Amino acid sequence: MDLLELKAIYKSGVNIIDYLVCRGVGRTDAIAISYDLQAGTYTALADENSTYIDEYTSEIAETLNTLGAGTESIMEAGVGEATTLANVRRQLRFEPDSFGFDISLSRALFGQKYFNRKGRGSSSLFVGDMFSIPLADDSVDIVYTSHSIEPNGGREEDALSELYRVARKYLILYEPSYEMATNEGRQRMDHLGYVRGLPQVADKLGMNVSDYRLTKVCSNSLNPTAMLLIEKNKRASGNRNVEYRCPNNGERLQLSHGCYWSESSLRIYPVVLGIPLLTPQHGIIATHYAEFI
Ligand SMILES: C[S@@+](CC[C@H](N)C(=O)[O-])C[C@H]1O[C@@H](n2cnc3c(N)ncnc32)[C@H](O)[C@@H]1O
Repeated sequence: MDLLELKAIYKSGVNIIDYLVCRGVGRTDAIAISYDLQAGTYTALADENSTYIDEYTSEIAETLNTLGAGTESIMEAGVGEATTLANVRRQLRFEPDSFGFDISLSRALFGQKYFNRKGRGSSSLFVGDMFSIPLADDSVDIVYTSHSIEPNGGREEDALSELYRVARKYLILYEPSYEMATNEGRQRMDHLGYVRGLPQVADKLGMNVSDYRLTKVCSNSLNPTAMLLIEKNKRASGNRNVEYRCPNNGERLQLSHGCYWSESSLRIYPVVLGIPLLTPQHGIIATHYAEFI
């Protein structure tokens, strides 16, 4: 695939996910490439529309503040350029360790820079896939999303199961509501391959949904955001000790010479400009690595 050519096609205004899927590229790869090409646009937009970002994230921060007693770690899955995470974190009345991951490295790099400028405390951002998150079960006290399950229509059950697996106390989804959208909104979501029926999927998977409602702040009336609050084990004690796991076999990763090493899957995961690359595909086969360290 010629990424330079794709960059020019993206700049001419073509929908890259449609373009790639029509040419036989799998939807997950198409989403990753499309979002990587868009990198930088969210931070620019957030700087131009700081009032909107403040309002949108204050609603999320308020939910987290209400649930927050004893919360020691939070994570945004599909963190993009961290424009949501940084502004949520800034408005929290507690001091959790903050994690975020995205399928796109370019976006995570923009995110790291944005968080350092706008967030509070530090953040640990990594590249990961929400369908194989490189963390152990029950790792992070509060896991939340903001429009990141959105483009993965058809994979709702897989996404919710995996996000729920790594959440310790709560999983909170801020995602488009197909059910509460207008007919025009639904047609648009159908065309874009957006998720639907998340509360029903959560019910089907036996999760405890304790709230589901539209948010007050919405940037696009054709794509209304709803908050879905799923309680897992709200009385669990908080966890600051979040460790990376091999996305191929779940083993704890060891930091070795600036990379992450999985002794039992015999793979190395690189770290680029401080961002660990932890999708299954990033694992470099290194069956003799142990002989050199
Ligand atoms: C609409 S953007 C939202 C970004 C961010 N959550 C925010 O509020 O600004 C959707 C993000 O989800 C990410 N994403 C989509 N599918 C993903 C997957 N399977 N694993 C990780 N990230 C994913 C995209 O790369 C993109 O950055």
